[in-house]
Amino acid sequence: MKLWGGRFTKEENALVNEFNASLRFDRRFFRQDIRGSIAHATMLGRQGILTKDESERIIAELKKINKELEQGKLVFDEEAEDIHSFIEATLTERIGDAGKKLHTGRSRNDQVALDMKLYVRDEIDETMLRVTALLKVIHRLMKEHKDTIMPGFTHLQKAQPVTLAHHLGAYMEMFKRDYTRLDDVRKRMNYCPLGAGALAGTTYDLDRAFTAKYLKFDGPTANSMDSVSDRDYVIEYLDACAIIMMHLSRFCEEYIVWNTDEYRFIAVDDAYSTGSSIMPQKKNPDIAELVRGKTGRIYGDLTAILTALKGIPLAYNKDMQEDKELTFDAIDTVKGCLTLFTDMLSTTRFKKETMERSAAGGFTNATDAADYLVKHGVPFRDAHGIIGRLVLACEERKCALDTLPLDAYKEICPVFEEDIYEAISLATCISKRNTTGAPGPDAMAAEIAADAAFLKKIHADVEY
Ligand code: ARG
Repeated sequence: MKLWGGRFTKEENALVNEFNASLRFDRRFFRQDIRGSIAHATMLGRQGILTKDESERIIAELKKINKELEQGKLVFDEEAEDIHSFIEATLTERIGDAGKKLHTGRSRNDQVALDMKLYVRDEIDETMLRVTALLKVIHRLMKEHKDTIMPGFTHLQKAQPVTLAHHLGAYMEMFKRDYTRLDDVRKRMNYCPLGAGALAGTTYDLDRAFTAKYLKFDGPTANSMDSVSDRDYVIEYLDACAIIMMHLSRFCEEYIVWNTDEYRFIAVDDAYSTGSSIMPQKKNPDIAELVRGKTGRIYGDLTAILTALKGIPLAYNKDMQEDKELTFDAIDTVKGCLTLFTDMLSTTRFKKETMERSAAGGFTNATDAADYLVKHGVPFRDAHGIIGRLVLACEERKCALDTLPLDAYKEICPVFEEDIYEAISLATCISKRNTTGAPGPDAMAAEIAADAAFLKKIHADVEY
């Protein structure tokens, strides 16, 4: 039975029905649909638009339907057009005329706008929890690896020594921004479209402020045409997800590189890697590769919704139904990736000695050697040239700056003394770098403390 049978004389064609129907995917937010209907029925009762008895019967039966759907006792009627018509039809079947009154002063346009908002809002909360779990793991690792020296890279070439805590701290910043980005989206979207009707409000005396408050919104939306056609929050949420995925993907790329035989900076736990069907020696970091690969899907989802919306005139048009599948895909993907990545990271073994050995090669202390000269009055540009020549000398002798004999230093520049070795030791290179945000111990302690304060403010209850 269609909700809109009255005006139509011909039966629809089956293909059209299937093409038009959304129950296959919008059944996913039956809870939100029922939550919205309960709010609407409560308000209709309070306003005297429905009798107290009608409103109570509707609410009681909706609660039952919700429970039965959760338990799988009530099965979706595959013939129904969408979740809204299915629930309304079930209600009416069970309680008769009172059920037919639920839709008073409401359209499916404001109904679906509400359902989608409630669903996305719930998922934003869930995404924020998962980002928090990741932040907690990164923070723990930062505390554990304050003294784990590793090479910092530019152009994937060894550049200057840093610590693992410092490197991980960069990701901490990215995911903190992701957290606050989600929080921003949530704040901006948190206005209730229910009561906007099809597009032009309604003549019934609805109390939109009441339903908004009941559903934990900050208030009702302002313009009824915008209310039914706004999907900005979907775009903003998908954008936040796309950025999360971009961050995860960059992390995965490093993770994969660090796991290669050439680097051996980490050992991936067996649970997060797989073998090869032919090469017995292989242990592949599949999870990291999949997370990197799935990033493209979310970019696709974001592009799809932006494109779908760009030509839609006001107010509601059926194109808007296209927001759902891609949003659901993005939600499933980002949540899965966050959780798996977090678990994988938390069980990863970081090989301190290999990292430190790597930092000791590749002249990562060359800048510090130049700084030594600067501190002895040599202009930086000249110092840069001198160290360049020293590096060449080292390459000829196949040694590091740390093991080049002092007379070789002096041959190129007499300013060098015995204390050059102390000045360019990796420990010194790190410990002297204490500008805000640098890897030195004081700077790192401040960074770790600031991160701890951030974590305390947000979902402190997430265990990880
Ligand atoms: N399934 C529809 C959607 O997801 C529900 C709204 C239908 N409204 C309408 N006027 N046909 O957008």
